[in-house]
Amino acid sequence: MERFRVVGGARLVGEVRVPGAKNSVLKLMAAALLAPGTTTIREVPEILDVQIMGELLQRLGCTVQRDADAAAVCITVPEQPGHQADYDLVRRMRASICVLGPLVARCGAADVARPGGDAIGSRPLDFHVDGLERLGATVETEHGFIVAKAPQGLVGAPIWLDFPSVGATENLLMAAVLARGTTTIDNAAREPEIVDLAVMLTQMGARIGGIGTSTLEVEGVDALHPVDHATVPDRIIAGTWAIAAAMTRGDVTVRHARAEHLEIALDKLATAGAEVARLPDGFRVSMDRRPRAVDVVTLPYPGFPTDLQPMVLGLNAVAEGSAMVTENVYEARFMFVDELARLGADVRTDGHHAVVRGRERLSGAPVRATDIRAGAGLVVAGLVADGVTTVSDSHHIDRGYPGFDAQLRALGADVTREPDPDDFAG
Ligand code: UD1
Repeated sequence: MERFRVVGGARLVGEVRVPGAKNSVLKLMAAALLAPGTTTIREVPEILDVQIMGELLQRLGCTVQRDADAAAVCITVPEQPGHQADYDLVRRMRASICVLGPLVARCGAADVARPGGDAIGSRPLDFHVDGLERLGATVETEHGFIVAKAPQGLVGAPIWLDFPSVGATENLLMAAVLARGTTTIDNAAREPEIVDLAVMLTQMGARIGGIGTSTLEVEGVDALHPVDHATVPDRIIAGTWAIAAAMTRGDVTVRHARAEHLEIALDKLATAGAEVARLPDGFRVSMDRRPRAVDVVTLPYPGFPTDLQPMVLGLNAVAEGSAMVTENVYEARFMFVDELARLGADVRTDGHHAVVRGRERLSGAPVRATDIRAGAGLVVAGLVADGVTTVSDSHHIDRGYPGFDAQLRALGADVTREPDPDDFAG
């Protein structure tokens, strides 16, 4: 096990390129199951989750070839894929659940292990299950598996989601494209990753209306064909660089990014005092003063992303003034606050609100990454802490931020990896 060692006092200056989005590519890989033949996905990030999804697809009978130099993955799907996703893979990666919809649609059956608990709060699957039932599947939990069956195929139906869940929207969209007749998904999530998936499905021959809105209309088709598709840039990585540039009073040009996917986050940084310039292939964030505190409320897209909440807590922790950060998506995401407090941040939480009183500097200390985003937030906070911060359980960070330490070094920070002496499991 390794940890990140961060020496405080850096000012991030330079240029970074953002890879394809983790939260998109995993769903695109699952969508490949919908068509026999070889689908190629490009702009694939070098992360463990891609490897786990590849293993899962291989167990379902697919051939998966990774071309790291070209950042591409080729998935060859057989006429009759398997339909069982085991707990050993689902446990390692929750997003494995996104094979549920495509498998029921393609095979008329799916046995997908139920993911267990999670560090960011309860993550139920009731919308996925209810939606599949609306499409005519029977769904039971048996021996730890979600067992879905639709031997006669799925049938289009109207579906309403209680909350615009990203995963449920994706699963139901992938199920509906091969259902007989018309499906509408109301109160659908409309994150850029869902648009990316809908665009790829359309290229495969699916008929989807309302892409990018909260009502998706799907006209089922008999079969889809494989395609070659490039993953949308990762807006959470791009947003992390933007916030880190402002926090460290730096000047960072973020390439291969879409400013329009980060409107609220970039606007918050402008309110905090940063200069934000849009470029044809990204944006540039520079800051020459201490940030002003900014109130933030996380919401489904186009609201402020919950995945950038740890970074914005860090920004407010060193800002001038006080701010309220409200978390509306994941109940337990404030677990990370206790780690930030170890760096001297003044944060009080009450339910889903956190009040942050800014301090001039934080103070380096050993801390632990509890999940991907909390881990990245702690590394960035370490950049504005006096002395050395170590962030244990760095494998969480690697799941969302390929080559984070190398990129931080390229921007002038002193960030390295070292063995974690606290890891007795060794
Ligand atoms: C995805 C992202 C994650 C991001 C989240 C919200 C991936 C792999 N992960 O997660 O990084 O933080 O979107 O932007 O894409 N809910 C239910 N019942 C359900 C499904 C969800 O109650 O059946 C609730 C969840 O508990 C949560 C909220 O809906 O409170 C949002 O969850 P959802 O949008 O489904 O998140 P994920 O798709 O799991």
